[in-house]
Amino acid sequence: MASSKEKISITEIEIRQINDSHKPILSSFKSYEKELVDFLVEDAFDNQTKQMSITYLWFLKSTNELIAYVSVLADAISLQGELKEHFRQKGVLYKSLPALKIGRLCVADEYLGRGVGTLMIEFVLVLAQRMSKEIGLRFITTDAKRNPDSRKDSVHFYKRFGFEILRQREKGTTSMYKDLIKE
Ligand SMILES: CC(C)(COP(=O)(O)OP(=O)(O)OC[C@H]1O[C@@H](n2cnc3c(N)ncnc32)[C@H](O)[C@@H]1OP(=O)(O)O)[C@@H](O)C(=O)NCCC(=O)NCCS
Repeated sequence: MASSKEKISITEIEIRQINDSHKPILSSFKSYEKELVDFLVEDAFDNQTKQMSITYLWFLKSTNELIAYVSVLADAISLQGELKEHFRQKGVLYKSLPALKIGRLCVADEYLGRGVGTLMIEFVLVLAQRMSKEIGLRFITTDAKRNPDSRKDSVHFYKRFGFEILRQREKGTTSMYKDLIKE
């Protein structure tokens, strides 16, 4: 069995969209972010049936344990300030541009720090690049939780992957975006 510090590889993971049969195992998922556990247990499946988000459950193949999940949905960025100017200079005059939003992303406490968060960001990037060949899609967005007392907050986590700050929101979150086209 892998030691607790070893990175987990994508080949060790099975990714399944949430469905009815997963309901009994959802409460086994433990995270210090209680709101993200509540969403998984109470809302993720219901939101999916209502076509408001899709939740991908990440299972460790060797034990069939649920170790992480990510929920995604359609979004749009309203162009303001510097971003508006940036696109205006390129002749793009729309008020908003289409995006894929990471609505929720969470790794179980026991598996933190083993690269699973990174793998999930890579998964969303691949999903977004694939979707951008089928529908108009320019950005990935997320509302990251701030923790002013620590560099260990999700704003810093997302910055590692090239996400930039769009604006600060109330309730301690920061809207962030990543442009799918590198310039
Ligand atoms: C944020 C989160 C997804 C990171 O998952 P993880 O699997 O532990 O991350 P990884 O192991 O892939 O870490 C990648 C790098 O980011 C860093 N990192 C991890 N969590 C971080 C955080 N919260 N803030 C800043 N950096 C972080 C790690 O130190 C690591 O750096 P290293 O490669 O130099 O060691 C995880 O902490 C989590 O689920 N938190 C609770 C829910 C949450 O905040 N979700 C995001 C907002 S909805």
